[in-house]
Amino acid sequence: MTASFQPLPDTMSGLLAKASRRSEIAPFIVMDVMERAARIEAAGGHVIHMEVGQPAAPAPRTAREAARKALDHGRIGYTMALGMPSLRARIARHYAETYNVDLDPGRVVVTTGSSAGFILAFLAMFEPGDRVAIANPGYPPYRHILTALGCEPVLIETDAASRWVITPEALAEAHAKAPLKGVLVASPANPTGTMMRPEALAELIATAEGLGIRFISDEIYHGLDYAFPATTAASISPHATVIHSFSKYFCMTGWRVGWMVMPEGLVRAAERLQQNLSISVPTLSQIAAEAAFDGAAEMEELKHGYEENRRILTAGLPLAGLPEFLPVDGAFYLYADVSRFTDDSAAFARRLLDEAGVAATPGVDFDPHRGHHFLRLSYAGAAAEMREAVERIGGFLRKG
Ligand SMILES: Cc1ncc(COP(=O)(O)O)c(C=O)c1O
Repeated sequence: MTASFQPLPDTMSGLLAKASRRSEIAPFIVMDVMERAARIEAAGGHVIHMEVGQPAAPAPRTAREAARKALDHGRIGYTMALGMPSLRARIARHYAETYNVDLDPGRVVVTTGSSAGFILAFLAMFEPGDRVAIANPGYPPYRHILTALGCEPVLIETDAASRWVITPEALAEAHAKAPLKGVLVASPANPTGTMMRPEALAELIATAEGLGIRFISDEIYHGLDYAFPATTAASISPHATVIHSFSKYFCMTGWRVGWMVMPEGLVRAAERLQQNLSISVPTLSQIAAEAAFDGAAEMEELKHGYEENRRILTAGLPLAGLPEFLPVDGAFYLYADVSRFTDDSAAFARRLLDEAGVAATPGVDFDPHRGHHFLRLSYAGAAAEMREAVERIGGFLRKG
């Protein structure tokens, strides 16, 4: 006997289709820009992509070869919930080699990109209703993930005077208003590309931990530091949680693999969560990630390319009529002030795309308060495209 489907009354089907309140988070606007750009390209137009924060290059050759070999010869089964022991050990070695930090591999938790790292870290640390400070402007999913998990993101305004990072004073002030349970910072940051000096990072961590506020450091753009070497929070405090990824420096966005360095006392909580939420991180990606560390020379070449792009834009954009942007210290972002042209960065970005074929992300994605005056340009593409972008932006601004 086949089961037959009986249509439900409207009220009941409406109820069944209703999304939860916790899912009512804002979309990631950059995705809308990408879609519009794709439509222009489908109609035969040429778009310079400066909207997406992802490298154009593939994963290191070493990573691709290791994955290929594993596919041919290995059984791709589950791994330990905390990650393959050899990858955790290799990540710990990376801390010794890069930062001169002696790290116990037992504190390393492999994650499905840093995105899953945030979910695990927030679940391991915070209760529903807990207040967690983040910088404004900042990476939108921080506030959206916190909201979806029932926590309260507390936006701390940053400005040029503080190099667009949270200061100890601002953190203490927000905590005095209503207690904070955590603070999350990124250096280099997205969308601003600005970095914290080692002393500033150490001071902020000391202030946070002195007030009982957990410190989370998003270090996804480490390795892409041009102004000065980035400092890891793991070298400053054993209580800080570091979140990192193979997505950016190692050009492995689609492989979905990252890691955390957690305080010893939180590792078991992350393990229990990962066991239940996803069992383990994709094995093929873990194998590739371990081998990616052997491809650092190839990645350094790419980094020099980003540095060249940075030079082309910081020299060319002022001449093209766009002189105001934040310090371009690291990552591959330039956050430009377009207030002299518009009060509506979304409409401005749409016109820039439609009329000049340059896709950029409006600042409202990153800053609900002042973002209508900013545009984020990603310079992870090719140098020739950056030169072309400067030309196109110049032409667009001259046309008015
Ligand atoms: C600051 C920042 N953190 C985290 C992520 C998430 O990256 P993934 O999940 O690929 O590691 C991104 C991606 O753009 C980012 O810009």
